[in-house]
Amino acid sequence: MVLKCSHTSILSQDSREKLHYESVWSAPSAGSNIGNQQPQYLSKVGRSSLKPILERIHRNNRGQGKGTTGLLDVGCGNGRNSFLAASIGFSVDALDISSSAIELAKNSRPDADIRFLNTSFFEFAAPDEGYAAILDDGFFHHLRPACHEYYVEKIRQLLRPDTGRFILVHLVDTESNRAQRHYIDDPNAIHFTRLYKPENINEIFSTQGFTTLKVEPDADASGREFSIHLLSAVHD
Ligand SMILES: C[S@@+](CC[C@H](N)C(=O)[O-])C[C@H]1O[C@@H](n2cnc3c(N)ncnc32)[C@H](O)[C@@H]1O
Repeated sequence: MVLKCSHTSILSQDSREKLHYESVWSAPSAGSNIGNQQPQYLSKVGRSSLKPILERIHRNNRGQGKGTTGLLDVGCGNGRNSFLAASIGFSVDALDISSSAIELAKNSRPDADIRFLNTSFFEFAAPDEGYAAILDDGFFHHLRPACHEYYVEKIRQLLRPDTGRFILVHLVDTESNRAQRHYIDDPNAIHFTRLYKPENINEIFSTQGFTTLKVEPDADASGREFSIHLLSAVHD
């Protein structure tokens, strides 16, 4: 399938964010827990509120004999959520554009049965069989809007058409997040972050037939407020 998108937008998006995240993930603090002030993604502990959601998806797939329990962790960072998903029983593919992140993930638990890939999501050549679940914790909200269409279409392509579930964790558009300046809404900056309300997510993902099954609030130790969106797409 040919994806409609400006190649230039993706190249610009990826080169900027890679520059930013290589420095984040190669910093000495990235390999250790440095207390409550750090963003949650630098912690080695998976997001606890994801556990029951992942468990339910895994149970439903198994219980109904629907085959694969493959999960793709998009922008996996140090792999904290990939390890969580693997412990639940998913067969995990995890990718990140930052080679430093992938090194950290691989070295963190060398024995883990996870396929860690150093690639951009936009370059990723998917396996033929779709994933039962795709997880994006903290990548989407760093996408410049020019890349949204490509992103949503690719998520839909990669997801199993019948039972696939997409879990999106993003920073919410709240007074508190705005006050704490957890966003840099400037497409020309090296690192971009946009805050979203649930209706924004519904609108962006409905373009590919996604519907929201559930939205849950979440927060990290430093007070950032997140939403966990569970989406599914019915393919025509
Ligand atoms: C905020 S971190 C979240 C890490 C992880 N999901 C977590 O929750 O711990 C965002 C991650 O997305 C990665 N990333 C950015 N652009 C990417 C792209 N085009 N393809 C794959 N990963 C990307 C970054 O390198 C970074 O590790």
